Amino acid sequence: MIHKVPLSIYIHWPFCTSKCPYCDFNSHIQQNIDHQEWGKSLVSELNYLTRTYFSDNLDKYYLKSIFFGGGTPSLIESSVIKKIIKQCVKKFKNVSLSNESEITLEANPNSLTKSKLLSFRDAGINRISIGAQSFNKKFLEFLGRDHSVYEAKRNIEYAREVFKNVSFDLIYAMPNQTVYEWEKSLKTAFQFEPDHLSLYQLTIEEGTAFNQMYKKGKLFPINNDLASEMYSITENLTQKNKMPAYEVSNYSKEGKSCSHNLNYWEGGEWIGIGPGAVSRFFYKNKRVQLDIRKDPNGWINSVKKNGSGVKNIVSETIEDFWNEKLLMGLRLVKGVNIKPIKRILNMAKVYELIEANYLDLNNDTMKTTFNGRLRLNSILAEIIK
Ligand SMILES: C[S@@+](CC[C@H](N)C(=O)[O-])C[C@H]1O[C@@H](n2cnc3c(N)ncnc32)[C@H](O)[C@@H]1O
Ligand code: SF4
Repeated sequence: MIHKVPLSIYIHWPFCTSKCPYCDFNSHIQQNIDHQEWGKSLVSELNYLTRTYFSDNLDKYYLKSIFFGGGTPSLIESSVIKKIIKQCVKKFKNVSLSNESEITLEANPNSLTKSKLLSFRDAGINRISIGAQSFNKKFLEFLGRDHSVYEAKRNIEYAREVFKNVSFDLIYAMPNQTVYEWEKSLKTAFQFEPDHLSLYQLTIEEGTAFNQMYKKGKLFPINNDLASEMYSITENLTQKNKMPAYEVSNYSKEGKSCSHNLNYWEGGEWIGIGPGAVSRFFYKNKRVQLDIRKDPNGWINSVKKNGSGVKNIVSETIEDFWNEKLLMGLRLVKGVNIKPIKRILNMAKVYELIEANYLDLNNDTMKTTFNGRLRLNSILAEIIK
């Protein structure tokens, strides 16, 4: 049997019903969106990319995953989602919509109903990732979310009834949040028996409303010790509930880690379509990064005129690739094989960090320990030559 290479497809939907003050994703508020036209343009861009960079021949690949991200892709009409999935699958000859291809939709509780969830499933979605963010009214308000705790909980319950693979996101380590409050939210999360959880510490991103408040002294991030304590509690409770971490902020039941994100973290290949999407794949024997322009209206005009909104394409050097492998691989609990990348590593520093219990090295597989994951960014800065 010929060994096929995994390929993922990412689709970016850049619209939301409101802008959350912490969010720096490429998301915009816009009225009167012609969903059919947007669907057609996304399909055009997919066709353009596969024609131009793969000569319309994806025979050596299998479709590992499709991921509708955003923005809020749960706002897309399900008939449009269906058409996009159909076109993705069509690209891979001899592949029907196999159960092995994970097809995720990111969903915001404010735009969900049970019938919508059913229509997404009928369109081909087999995994749902709900942005619940918090089960505490006070913190949902702080995060500027346009849904209630009740809506978040109710939609997780509906999703549980409709999908075999349910994930949701929670944000913690927020200003004025106590360890007890976070523990309570986390315990509530397990009551829904999720397959997967993304648990993010709040970060203050450049260009967001929170960043403005922070600069004006109106928002005080939680202190590091408290954030670390919350991270420890998260580690303990997820393990106790048989959903251990497989990545810095991602936890899952056995066999339910997110295939799509794993493909990114393992340095795989993917095609990204829609405003601001990024692709990484091998083209003319070089690994390339292809960027799509970010502004939604400029993007759709570009697709109409040129077939795609490609902004630029750059080849990665082998050092770039190794750097990325390390950066991404150390996020994973299972670690990364450093045999091919030792040249970029300061091995003396690596051994120092092993002694200090931040790293672990076994047969060329390097991993971060729990303490290491707490300070991943500084570790990376120290070990790369
Ligand atoms: C594209 S958004 C999710 C989909 C959907 N738009 C929603 O908000 O429900 C991806 C996730 O990133 C997380 N996120 C975004 N900005 C963050 C920040 N500044 N700090 C921590 N988590 C953040 C949120 O948990 C969010 O659900
Ligand atoms: S709904 Fe999601 S993507 Fe949209 S602004 Fe809020 S966090 Fe960002």
